[in-house]
Amino acid sequence: MKIVLLGPPGAGKGTQAKSISNRYSIPHISTGDIFRKNISENTPLGIEAKKHIDKGQLVPDEVTINMVKDRLQQDDCKNGYLLDGFPRTVNQAEALQEFLNSRNEDLDTALLIEVPTGFILERMTGRRVCPSCGASYHIKFNPPTAQGKCDVCGSDVIQRKDDTEETVSERLDVYERQTQPLIDFYKERNLLSTVDGTQAINEVFESICNILGSL
Ligand code: AP5
Ligand code: MG
Ligand code: ZN
Repeated sequence: MKIVLLGPPGAGKGTQAKSISNRYSIPHISTGDIFRKNISENTPLGIEAKKHIDKGQLVPDEVTINMVKDRLQQDDCKNGYLLDGFPRTVNQAEALQEFLNSRNEDLDTALLIEVPTGFILERMTGRRVCPSCGASYHIKFNPPTAQGKCDVCGSDVIQRKDDTEETVSERLDVYERQTQPLIDFYKERNLLSTVDGTQAINEVFESICNILGSL
């Protein structure tokens, strides 16, 4: 199964991706996670990415596209993958399509997690993440069992630097201008499916499984 997850920042892409990846045994490839790992390791890619991410803007297409193409050629992607946060521009979507065409492959679906803007700010500013293992929480909707500690590995959870009110509003603008056009891109190719992301986390997952099961 080859899946692209679409949706605004805070829609729940990362949250659902973890469950989908477990259920279907496909790797979860999050460009945001790859950038953050490179930032924490201070690699050249991380230093470049940080300049854009901290402002809520996109990392340039050439950097992102090459990074994803490399990742998709690794062994664990042979039986499919779940892309979270890529593509994010029409350019990126076209590059992905070319990559797939060159291998005689196609996506199974581009799954849009639909959440109105009104929900987003509370989701993002309440998000906490584990810097060690990447697990993600929400202070109200999905709190860790022991306050402030990751359920998986026990580290102190932190707030992402780009989850402040100001950066979130820039990220939403960027989404509307650069990423929303992908909804039509995939609609025109009959690949778009949509799930209501305002439901509770487990309900969203159930709806996603119904969609994926009926493809
Ligand atoms: P990225 O890390 O991809 O951030 P994003 O797309 O803005 O999405 P988020 O990770 O913020 O949200 P999410 O949908 O994963 O939500 P989550 O599940 O965590 O990208 C970061 C940056 O990297 C970009 O701004 C850009 O600079 C750069 N970048 C990345 N990819 C790029 C690309 N392709 N090209 C160029 N630049 C790129 O959920 C959010 C919160 O809500 C959590 O606290 C969660 O617990 C909670 N929650 C989730 N679902 C529910 C629910 N159903 N009900 C209640 N709460 C919920
Ligand atoms: Mg995410
Ligand atoms: Zn952890």
